[in-house]
Amino acid sequence: MADTLTVTDNRTGKTYELAVTDGTINAMDLRKIRVSDDDFGLMAYDPAYKNTASCRSAITYIDGDQGILHYRGYPIEQLAVQSSFLECSYLLLKGELPSPSAMARFRHEVTHHTLVHENTRELLDGFRYDAHPMGMLISTIAALSTFYPEAQNVTNEENRWLQIVRLIGKVPTLAAYAYRHRRGLPYVYPDNELSYSGNFLNMLFKMTERTYVPNPAAERALDVLFILHADHEQNCSTSAMRGVGSSRVDPYSALAAACAALYGPLHGGANEAVVRMLNEIGTKDNIPSFVKRAKEDKNVRLMGFGHRVYKNYDPRAKVIKELAYDVFEALGKNPLIDIAVELERIALEDDYFIQKKLYPNVDFYSGLIYQALGLPMDMYPVLFAIGRTVGWLAQWEEMLRDPEQAISRPRQIYTGPAIRDYVPLSER
Ligand code: SDX
Repeated sequence: MADTLTVTDNRTGKTYELAVTDGTINAMDLRKIRVSDDDFGLMAYDPAYKNTASCRSAITYIDGDQGILHYRGYPIEQLAVQSSFLECSYLLLKGELPSPSAMARFRHEVTHHTLVHENTRELLDGFRYDAHPMGMLISTIAALSTFYPEAQNVTNEENRWLQIVRLIGKVPTLAAYAYRHRRGLPYVYPDNELSYSGNFLNMLFKMTERTYVPNPAAERALDVLFILHADHEQNCSTSAMRGVGSSRVDPYSALAAACAALYGPLHGGANEAVVRMLNEIGTKDNIPSFVKRAKEDKNVRLMGFGHRVYKNYDPRAKVIKELAYDVFEALGKNPLIDIAVELERIALEDDYFIQKKLYPNVDFYSGLIYQALGLPMDMYPVLFAIGRTVGWLAQWEEMLRDPEQAISRPRQIYTGPAIRDYVPLSER
C-alpha cells in the first residue's frame, strides 16, 4: 500500500493523491483541491490547533494515551531521579547528555550570568508592593532586551548561545527579586558557590546570615520540579515562543511572550489555581459537592486535572506526588495533600472524569510542594516559568535552525460583512 491519501472532491468529481508523511498530510497540498482555476483551494480549519502539527521537533516526545514523556529519548522518570536541572538543560539544548568537562563548562557559563543590570532593580521598584510576580517577571524579562541589543542578531549561532545562557542564569534572579520586592526585603545577590536551585533558594530566603545554607530536601525538590517543568513539546507557551520568535525578534522579547502565555490559569497558572481550589474546598467532606459543580458548571473546573495531550495520568504528576511526601517528611506535612489525594481518588472513580479521560496533570500536586517550601501562591507560576525557560529556548533554537520554518502566519475563515460603501456621519 502506498503512503498516500486518495481524495475525491464530490463538487467536481476530481480525484487527488495526497502524500502521507509521518502520519500527516502537508496542508499546502490541500490547495490543489479547487472548484475552478481562480479558486484559492482548500485549507484545513483547526481552531486552537487541536489536530495540527506545527513543526518537526526532536526535543520532547509525549505519548498522551500511554502517559509517556521523554526528553531527547530519555524517560522523564529516569531524569527526575538521576539527573540535575542544569544537566537536563544541556540535554534539551544540545541533544545529548554532557561529558563531565562539557557539564563543568556549561555550569560555569550559567553561574556567571546570574547577575542582572542594576537598572533592573529600579524597574522593579516601580511596581506596587502587591504586583503579581508573573507581571513583574514578564516585564523584566522583556526589559533585558534593552540591555543586550546585540541579541537581535538571531542568525548568529554563538550570539544565540550567549543569550540562552544569560536567560537561564538570569530568570531565577529576576524571579527572586520579584518575590523580595513583594516582601519589602532587600534583594539578595547570587551566590556562585551554590547549585542552581540552591542559589535560587538563597536569593529567595537569605536574611541576615552571612552565608545561606539551603535545606537539601528543598534544594533537591526544586531541582526535580525544574526538571519536570523543563519542556513539554508544542504547548501553548512554547507555541507562543516559536510564533513570536519566528518574526526574528530577540529571544528576551519572545520569552516574555511565552511567559505571558504560561501565566494563564488554563496553563501554568493552574498550579496556583489548584491550591486556591483546595483551600476553597477546605475539608474532605466538601469534595463531593465541589466535584459535582466541576461536572455541571462550565465555569468551574477541577484545576490540575485534564490535558490536551495526556488522556492518561501525567507522568510528571506521579513523580511530583511521590516527591511531595519526601518534602513533607523533611519540612512538615502540607495538610492540603490529604484533600488533594481524596479529590483525586473520588474524581478518578467518577464516570464524568473517566469518560473524558481527565487525570491529574503536572499542576495538581506541584503547588503543595511550593507551599511547603514557604512560597506564596502567586509565585507558583513563576517557578513553572523558571523550569520552562530552557524548553522555550531549546524550541526557539530548533525553530531558527529549521529550513521548513518561516514567519508564523495562519489563515482564517472570513465571517464578516460583504463589501459595502462608507456612509458619512451626517447621513447615519
Ligand atoms: C499545563 O499543553 C501542555 O503540555 C501544557 C502543560 C505543559 O507542560 O506545558 O502540560 C502544562 O498547562 C497543564 C494543564 C493545566 N491546566 C489545568 O489544570 C486547568 C484545568 N484543565 C482544563 O482547563 C483543560 O483540561 C485543559 C485546558 C488542560 C485542556 O483543555 P482542552 O484540551 O481544550 O479540553 P477541553 O477544555 O475541550 O475539555 C474537554 C472536556 C470539556 O467538556 P465538554 O465541553 O466536552 O462537555 O472536558 C471537560 C471540558 O468541560 N474538562 C474538564 C476539565 N478539563 C476538561 N471538566 C472539569 N474539570 C477539568 N479540569
